[in-house]
Amino acid sequence: MHEHDSPSIAALIAAQRPGYSLDQRFYTDPAIYELELEKIISRNWFLAGHASELAEPGDFKVLKIARDSAIIVRGADGTIRAFANVCRHRGSLVCLEQKGNTRKFSCPYHGWTYGTDGKLIAARSMGDDFDKSDYSLRPVSVGEIHGLMFICFCDEPPSLEGAVRDLAEPMALFDFPNLKVAANQTYDIPANWKLCIENYQECYHCATAHPEYARMHTLMLDPSKRERLQEDMFAKMEACGLKKIFIDFLDTKARPGEIGYGYSRKAMFDGYLTGSRDGGPAAPLLGKLTNYDGGASDFSFGAFSFLLAYSDHVVCYVFTPVNHGNSRCEIYWLVRNDAVEGVDYDVDELTWLWDVTTSADKTIIVNNWKGVRSRYYTPGPFSGMEEAASNYVQWILRELARP
Ligand code: FES
Ligand SMILES: [Fe+2]
Repeated sequence: MHEHDSPSIAALIAAQRPGYSLDQRFYTDPAIYELELEKIISRNWFLAGHASELAEPGDFKVLKIARDSAIIVRGADGTIRAFANVCRHRGSLVCLEQKGNTRKFSCPYHGWTYGTDGKLIAARSMGDDFDKSDYSLRPVSVGEIHGLMFICFCDEPPSLEGAVRDLAEPMALFDFPNLKVAANQTYDIPANWKLCIENYQECYHCATAHPEYARMHTLMLDPSKRERLQEDMFAKMEACGLKKIFIDFLDTKARPGEIGYGYSRKAMFDGYLTGSRDGGPAAPLLGKLTNYDGGASDFSFGAFSFLLAYSDHVVCYVFTPVNHGNSRCEIYWLVRNDAVEGVDYDVDELTWLWDVTTSADKTIIVNNWKGVRSRYYTPGPFSGMEEAASNYVQWILRELARP
């Protein structure tokens, strides 16, 4: 950000009207994106998948967020670490594969080679006074919440302690540590990242944009119309092995120095046991669940990662900015780790709902992006059904305004 720009961005932030969508510049101005990189994107945790993806020493995967790329790898000692995927020689990307198993990472440029602990183990013709220990790969913050891996491109990331503590009980219901990734899909969305998350935060659009989701999830209803269905589900929950737990995302998000996190369970319409095409079981029941209560649990982890736990599978959503006009949505479908593909679940059936829904969401987000860039765009009022999106926008403004 140029210095002469800062007063005008500060003034713009202060001028935003609560309850309204943001001014065009928040979506289109590269200077505001730079500020977001510094104040929001590089200071927050992103879900990096499930630890079972890196089951063996040497298993690795690469994750890209905005301009940064990280290698997440399980070392020979069994510890999961993350490193910046940037060679300490002259800065090339070191690992060009998306995932795999290796004993070392060799830079494709001049061959500097690093161990799975990030230490430089070989560099040709660097002279006698060259000390390899000065040139380890730079560490990236990595954390785990009951089996879920997170990374943050910040040396002093927000604490995960509260999330680990308070989400232990709801995550134990679904036995998160013993899940596995049954499917994984990436959706490239040519739109500003905030439009993607604003869309995810509201269901005002659900009835019109994706009927497949709307016919099973009561979130598409006005909250006052959901009450009876919620009460019916609460009455069934205990007999199914679930508990009534609520953790307010807004509360935890307001705590400085911590990742925000939340948990709530919402009823599906009668006849729907889970998020499958016909509403019938999609995979074996999770954890110690003994039956379907007809609900789905929302988990939030920070500003970019969201989970939906049905009784028999979990859908994890991660939004990552690519640049100011491009974003990526990564979905992981998790099932019990002892479930057998083709026997206990079918990948096409398991992924059907959120694939059609995300494809439809991508279309409306891109249409939104096209309209927002027009000279005729002006901020419009959020509906009562878009409260979470409206809150999200306010949170962004607060983060941007933080010293
Ligand atoms: S940039 Fe990696 S070895 Fe030269
Ligand atoms: Fe949607």
